[in-house]
This record gives sequence, C-alpha cells and structure tokens, in this order.
Amino acid sequence: MTISQPTKENIETAVRLLQQGDIVAFATETVYGLGCDTFNKSAIQKVYTTKGRPKNNPMIAHVLDSTWVATLTDSWNKQCESLSKTFWPGPLTLVVPKNKSVPTEACGGLETIAIRCPSNTVARQLLQSFGAPVSAPSANRSGYISPTTAEHVETEFGGDLYILDGGPCETGIESTVLSLVSEPTILRPGAITKEQIEDVIGPVFQQFVSQQSESPGTSLHHYTPTTVTLLKTEEEVGAIDNLECVVLSIHKTPLACKHHIQMPETPNEYAAVLYAALREADLLQGSLVVIEQPPCESSWVAINDRVSRCCSQ
Ligand code: TXA
Ligand code: MG
Repeated sequence: MTISQPTKENIETAVRLLQQGDIVAFATETVYGLGCDTFNKSAIQKVYTTKGRPKNNPMIAHVLDSTWVATLTDSWNKQCESLSKTFWPGPLTLVVPKNKSVPTEACGGLETIAIRCPSNTVARQLLQSFGAPVSAPSANRSGYISPTTAEHVETEFGGDLYILDGGPCETGIESTVLSLVSEPTILRPGAITKEQIEDVIGPVFQQFVSQQSESPGTSLHHYTPTTVTLLKTEEEVGAIDNLECVVLSIHKTPLACKHHIQMPETPNEYAAVLYAALREADLLQGSLVVIEQPPCESSWVAINDRVSRCCSQ
C-alpha cells in the first residue's frame, strides 16, 4: 500500500525519504505535489524522470513561512513582503530571482525561483518536520490532469511511491503564479485573483495563454484527458444527441448523452471538483468529452484557463 495517513510516524518516514534523496507525494490545498529536497540535484532529477517532465519546466519550492525564503532568494522586496503577509499560507506562488545556492536544475535552468507557502496541514507537517524547502510540481504525469486525491496519484504512479493522504484538495486547481522579476505579472491564474493581488500591490499584468514562454509549464496543451475533449456553448450542449459522449455541464437540462456530470454553479465549488470530474469523464471511455463553457466573469478566469487548455488539441 503506497497511500499513507499523515500520522506522526508516517510524516517521519516521508521526511527520511526526502533526506535520503527520494521523492514523496503529499496533499496541498490546491493539488497533490510530487516533492523532493530543493537542494538535492539527484532527487530533482527523479521528479523530472518520474513525471516525464520536460527539463525546462521549473518547479515551485514550498516553504513553511516567509522566514524560509532567505534560503532561496536575496531579492525579497516590499511587494513580496506585503503579498506573503496577506496571502500566505495559501495558493499564491511568487517568482523572484534565485540565490546562488539553489541548483538551477530545481528551476528548469532559470535564474528565478517560484516560491509558495501551502496552508494544507499535511503539507505543513511535512515541511515542519523536514525543516527545509520542498520542490514539488503537481503529482501527475506531465501534461495529464492534476491529482486532487491520493488515489489519483496512486493511479498515475502506483508502484512504491510514498503518498501522504490529506483527503480531497479543498481548492482543487493550482496556485496563482505571480512573477515579480520585473513588472508584476500573473503567469498562471489561480484561486487568488488579479483583483485581490491588485488590492495589495496595485496594477498587475495578466499574460495570455499564447504568450507564456516565460513560464514554460503553462503551455497551451495541458490538463488533457486521453479522450478528445471539446468546449461548447450552452446552446450547443443542449443540442447534443451523441449517446457516446460524456458531458460536464453547469446547466441542469436533461441531455441525450452517455453520461452527464453535473458541475457546481459557483467558481470555488466548480474548481474543487473539476479535475476529479475530468478523470471520471476520461475513465468512462466515451467517444468524446464535452465541457460546457463556464461563465466568463472574472471569478471564473482560472477555471476558464484550465478548461481551455484541457480542450486544446
Ligand atoms: O498549486 C500549485 O502550485 C501546485 C502545488 C503542488 O503546490 N504545484 C504546481 O506545480 O502546480 P507545477 O509544477 O505543476 O506548476 C508550476 C508552474 C508551472 O507553470 C511553471 O512553469 C511555473 O509554475 N513556474 C515555476 N517556476 C517558475 C519560474 N522560475 N519562472 C516562471 N514560472 C515558473
Ligand atoms: Mg502541473
């Protein structure tokens, strides 16, 4: 059995694994992470190999609190200070120049590092006991749907990967990634919105999907089920008469399809179940997965980002 409850003993086992240069999967409030010691190059290499992740896709270093950032960067400015005070622990990742001691391998070859302080108890217990930053991408095979339960992680990797179970992730989609390397720019939208960030530091840019060369992990084709997945309007979904297709929709109209997954009406609830719904849809092996276009208000930006990537062929 690879899934372990976060008892004191099991946290200690996970810490031993990290200390000996192994990798460990663990719950965070956003999605499950596949963690390694930020300063151990061969452990970093294991994460990339296990995920099948391109070497130029940098990882996020997880810290227990903002006092830990001194081990990762010499460029923690006033904006970082205010943002971390307001949103940490929580789903906001800050990209800043890295210091010399951080291996570039942990940062996809870049001279910058993404830092995040998770709020989830399991993630925090692990960090507290390990006592140093843990670099962790989402615990899925590169390009596939991110995992929001320990079972999702086990399905992806099975074998003897050690997984610290924290139940279903509360937020359900990945953190907002904000670069402070030059002008503040959102590289990946997430649960913390542009408006919330602007309330603290003033205007920020938001990069569009197609411009995201600065954040190599945010390529257009991502979070993708193996079944062809299309985004359709409410009217198009209402007109579906394909008994082989699986539909994820917010509207409750009865549909002529193989399976209808009813999605919640509020963005937070929608985000919390999105990845589990996509995995369920994929497992049903219909001829097609159809996602009804979510609302376009600003509170849905991160969800629209994820569904448009997962439907990109
Ligand atoms: O919520 C999350 O952020 C989750 C949990 C596990 O913390 N992690 C996560 O990691 O989503 P990952 O590796 O799947 O996505 C990290 C994103 C990628 O889009 C990557 O390109 C970007 O952060 N990123 C990391 N370091 C960066 C850097 N130095 N510069 C620009 N983008 C960076
Ligand atoms: Mg990921």
